[in-house]
Amino acid sequence: MNLAIIASGRGSNAAAILDAIANDRLDARPVALITNRENVGALDVARAHNVPGHAISRRDFPSRTAQQRRMLEVLQDSGADFVALAGFDAILRPFIVAAYPNRILNIHPSLLPAFAGGMAPVPQTDALRAGVKISGCTVHVVTEDLDAGPIVAQAAVSVLPNDTVGSLSDRILEQEHRLYPLALRWFAEDRARIVDGRVLIDSEESQALWPHPAP
Ligand code: GRF
Repeated sequence: MNLAIIASGRGSNAAAILDAIANDRLDARPVALITNRENVGALDVARAHNVPGHAISRRDFPSRTAQQRRMLEVLQDSGADFVALAGFDAILRPFIVAAYPNRILNIHPSLLPAFAGGMAPVPQTDALRAGVKISGCTVHVVTEDLDAGPIVAQAAVSVLPNDTVGSLSDRILEQEHRLYPLALRWFAEDRARIVDGRVLIDSEESQALWPHPAP
């Protein structure tokens, strides 16, 4: 797997993925880390892992479409054959989704299909407001429908009575860092198939994820 990561912010999921690669928990070659802004933490994460970082900022392009055309060029020039969105705060244009069919994953801080659509911390805020007792995170395949592609993996956390958006987000984030590298591994090892819009994983780990996480 020649993996590119696309991010917009601090890059803690990017770091979890690159750490998993460095520690041989994920057999992938990180070929590029692309951001849609300059001076974000994710670019420092790329530097720390010796991964080529590319800031492709909106203000250098006449339109969002032109910006994403450049992103696609960089993806293709890097040799990427798989893409992980890790806190990307824009909607991928259909031409990028079409260039990597079923080869782009995203992580979202809720148990989809609940609380789809918003960027963190909106899903966590909405979960607290709704009074749900369990929330979590979802890794899904990216399609043209926002946060609605086939679900690859989910991890649940309790919502506690005294939770704030921050404390709930932190508890979910800990699961994100565990879940995302694992989900990518199933694709790297060719263990994931999409049948009738559902992801089937050929791995016992996927059965043992919750409530007793695999070691
Ligand atoms: C995470 O909450 C992720 O679920 C969401 O954006 C946030 C990214 O955080 N898609 P980070 O930049 O990976 O730390």
